[in-house]
Amino acid sequence: MNLLKEYELKNLKLKNKVVMPPMCMYSSDSEGYVKDFHKVHYGARALGGVGLIILEATAITPNGRISDNDLGIWSNTQIPGLKSLVDIGHKNETQMGIQLAHAGRKCTAQCEYTVAPSSLSYDETYRLPKELTKDEISLIISQFQDAAKRADEAGFDMIEIHGAHGYLIHEFLSPLSNTRTDAYGGSLENRTRFLREILAAVKKVWPSHKTISLRISATDYLEGGLVTKDLVKIINEVKPFIDIVHVSTGGLLPAKIGLFDGYQVEHAKIIKQECNIPTITVGLINDFELAENILNENKADLVAFGRKLLREPQFILNAIYKNKYEYDFPVQYERAYRYRSSDQVKTL
Ligand SMILES: Cc1cc2nc3c(=O)[nH]c(=O)nc-3n(C[C@H](O)[C@H](O)[C@H](O)COP(=O)(O)O)c2cc1C
Repeated sequence: MNLLKEYELKNLKLKNKVVMPPMCMYSSDSEGYVKDFHKVHYGARALGGVGLIILEATAITPNGRISDNDLGIWSNTQIPGLKSLVDIGHKNETQMGIQLAHAGRKCTAQCEYTVAPSSLSYDETYRLPKELTKDEISLIISQFQDAAKRADEAGFDMIEIHGAHGYLIHEFLSPLSNTRTDAYGGSLENRTRFLREILAAVKKVWPSHKTISLRISATDYLEGGLVTKDLVKIINEVKPFIDIVHVSTGGLLPAKIGLFDGYQVEHAKIIKQECNIPTITVGLINDFELAENILNENKADLVAFGRKLLREPQFILNAIYKNKYEYDFPVQYERAYRYRSSDQVKTL
């Protein structure tokens, strides 16, 4: 069972290839602090056997939040709460990542104004963002850098830069949301500048042995928007700064998306092959068999299960039990997963 085999990438030594992808829980307070909810929520998935948990989008600055209840990493006072989540993961042999995010024009938190590369709103229900000045861009780059330092101090094994789903970095990348005429707009190379500068700044402070992931939307699903071959170029350009790509799609603007099981897997495969970089695939992967085929066909290196893990935090252990695989269960739950002596235990 490939999915349950160990995986190594730099400092990451994962006990299996199951990833919990970042999922906003909007359960913090207006100051962005970790609450008991987060400890229970992430602790349950760690106990459930997930190899790598990537914490939800965590804002690098207050007006980079999606909502008033996002987790935050803009202040040193937020480090101890985040560290408590890392410790919970580590105690259960789960490695811990955190997604560093700026919501850009999709911020709905209470703040004076929202920002974006260009003064274009997502739709009529969102505020019209302020176009960022060069100085404001530099400030946000330094806020990503400070957030990476705090993530290291909290003990995270990996950071994931949120470059997907129509948030600030994606807004710079796509020609549909970036109509700037300076060095940050126009050509694909210019639109990539903001991402490149963030990654370069982060790389300076994030320990070189630790892993950096980049989450991207491989397509905007819109005419005139980004397509997978653009992302291949972007990733090839920023490759020296990153170790793995977490491949999602969409979110820039409302669009029609054809949904089916594993609907984003082909994008992960293209990026893995054409950029020669490890990928995490995600999106309606709800069973072991599909995940196993993806890995066996070398379409991705790790598989993330989002809503499945919200519904069923124990699904990995239950699948192992049902299939009678030889596997070390959490010691506290050992009795619940002990096989009968007559059962044929299968090696992985
Ligand atoms: C409740 C919820 C919150 C989410 N929040 C985030 C987030 O913070 N950052 C992100 O990149 N994606 C976010 N996503 C997208 C998921 O990471 C994942 O890509 C998506 O749910 C598809 O995978 P699935 O079909 O396995 O759920 C969220 C999805 C859900 C359902």
